[in-house]
Amino acid sequence: MEPVVAVVVAAGAGVRLGGTEPKALRLLNGRPLISYCLEGLAAGGVDRVVVVIAAGTEADFEAALADSPIPAAYVHGGQDRAASVEAGLAAMAGDPAFDGCRYVLVHDAARALVPGPVVARVIAALRDGASGCVPVMPVVDTVRQLTDDGSVVIDRSQLRLVQTPQGFERSVLVAALAQARQGGLQITDDASAVAAAGVPIALVEGSRDALKVTEPLDLVLAEAIERSRR
Ligand code: C5P
Repeated sequence: MEPVVAVVVAAGAGVRLGGTEPKALRLLNGRPLISYCLEGLAAGGVDRVVVVIAAGTEADFEAALADSPIPAAYVHGGQDRAASVEAGLAAMAGDPAFDGCRYVLVHDAARALVPGPVVARVIAALRDGASGCVPVMPVVDTVRQLTDDGSVVIDRSQLRLVQTPQGFERSVLVAALAQARQGGLQITDDASAVAAAGVPIALVEGSRDALKVTEPLDLVLAEAIERSRR
C-alpha cells in the first residue's frame, strides 16, 4: 500500500490557552499534546510525520518527538498556519524518505486526542479516490448570522464543523496552497484552498474527542477524555 505522510502544524504560540511554552508542548495529564497527536496518527495508519515548529523550541520538541511511534522530523514554520503547512510540504519535497508519498494528511497539533479511526477514515477516502477529504461534525447549537437586525438563523442541518486531519493528494495540496498564497486568499484550513482550486472535498465522520485545545476549558475537557480512555 502507498505510504501516508502527515504534516502536523505546531508553530502557533497558543496565546488563547495561556502559558509560555508552545501549545503543542503543553502537558495533558503529564504528556505533551504533540505526543498524543503522533499516537493518534500512527494508530490511524500514518507512516511518517513532519512536525512544523517555531524557531527556538527545537530542544523541547526533540525530547517530545523521541518517543514517537513513527518516524518524526521537524522543520520551522511560517508567519501563519498556511505558511507553516507549506514549510512542512517543502521539507518533504527535498527528502528522499518522502519521495513517492502520494497522500498527505495535515493535522493541527491542538487536536491532540484525534482517535485513530478518524485518521483511518480520512486515509480510506483518499485510497478510494478522493483528492481531498475532511472529518466533520454536525452543529448542535442554533446558529444566527450577524446581520443588522440579527434575524437570520441558518439551517444547521446544512452545516458541518470541520476538523483535522485533512487528507489530500500531495500534488493537489501543494498546488492549491501556492495558488491561494499568490491570490492572497485568506484561509483557515487546507481544504478551503483545495476547494477554491475547484477540487471536490469528501466528508467523513469526525469525533468530539478531536476537539481543538484552544482555551483553558478545552484542556480540562481533553484531560477528562484522556483519563476515560485508560
Ligand atoms: O491559530 P489556529 O488555531 O488556527 O492554529 C491552528 C494550528 O496551526 C495550531 O496547531 C498552530 O500551532 C498552527 N500554526 C502554525 N503556524 C502558525 C500559526 C498556527 O503551525 N504561524
